[in-house]
Amino acid sequence: MKILGLNGSPRLKGNSVQLLTEALRGANDAGAETELISLYGMNFKGCRSCFACKRKSPFYGKGCAMKDDFTGVMEKLLEADAWIFATPIYNGHMSSSMSALIERFYFSHHNYDAHERMVEKEYPSVLIYSMNGNPLFMEKMGIENSCKYDAFLFENAFGGCKYMVANATLQFDDYSKYHTAAVPLEKKLKYNAEHFPQDLQRAYEMGKELISRINL
Ligand SMILES: Cc1cc2nc3c(=O)[nH]c(=O)nc-3n(C[C@H](O)[C@H](O)[C@H](O)COP(=O)(O)O)c2cc1C
Repeated sequence: MKILGLNGSPRLKGNSVQLLTEALRGANDAGAETELISLYGMNFKGCRSCFACKRKSPFYGKGCAMKDDFTGVMEKLLEADAWIFATPIYNGHMSSSMSALIERFYFSHHNYDAHERMVEKEYPSVLIYSMNGNPLFMEKMGIENSCKYDAFLFENAFGGCKYMVANATLQFDDYSKYHTAAVPLEKKLKYNAEHFPQDLQRAYEMGKELISRINL
C-alpha cells in the first residue's frame, strides 16, 4: 500500500507539513509506505483550458495534456493507493499551487459524459486545511463550504474523501515583530496551545483510518 502526501504550503516546516507528517505517520503505523511531496517551487501552471482531456480522441481518459513538473506528480498520484493533501487556506481557499494541481488533475479525470469514474480504481483521500481564523470566523465567511466543495470533487472523481480543518494556527515565532494588531493575540495563542496538539492527533488518526478505506 502506498500513500502519497502532497503539501501545498511554501513553508516546509509550517502547519500543513506538521499535520501532513502526522497523517502520514498514522498511515505508516497502519502498514502503508508513504511519501511526502511539496508542490511549491515546482515548475507548473494551472489549467490552460485546452480541453485536450475532453476531445473525442485516443488521448481521452489519459489525463492532463500539459507537460511540466506536475506531470510526474499526477503519475505518482495514479500509482498510489490513497492520498493525503495538506494546504493552508489562502484568501478563503486552498493555496494556488494545490489549486493548480487539482484544476488539472481533477478536471482531466472528470467524466463529462456520465457520472462514472474514469480512473481504474478508487482512491480514498484525506484533505487537511489550516487557517489563521477561528471556527466562528470560518463559519461566518463560509470557508467550510470551500472545503466541502473540494471533498465533493474528490468523491465525485476518485473515491471517499474526508477532511479536517486546523484553526487559529501559528504564523510566526515572534508575533511582536509583525503587524498583527487586529488579531486578539492572547486568545489566539491560548486556543492554539489547546487545539493544535489535538489537530495533530486528529491528522494522525485520519491517516491511520485512511488505510481501512483502501480496497485492494
Ligand atoms: C497569502 C495568505 C493568505 C491567507 N489567507 C487566509 C484566510 O483567508 N483565512 C485565514 O484564516 N488564514 C489565512 N492565512 C493564514 C494561513 O492560512 C495559516 O497561517 C496557515 O496555517 C498557514 O499554513 P502553513 O504554516 O502550512 O503555511 C493566509 C496566509 C497567507 C500567507
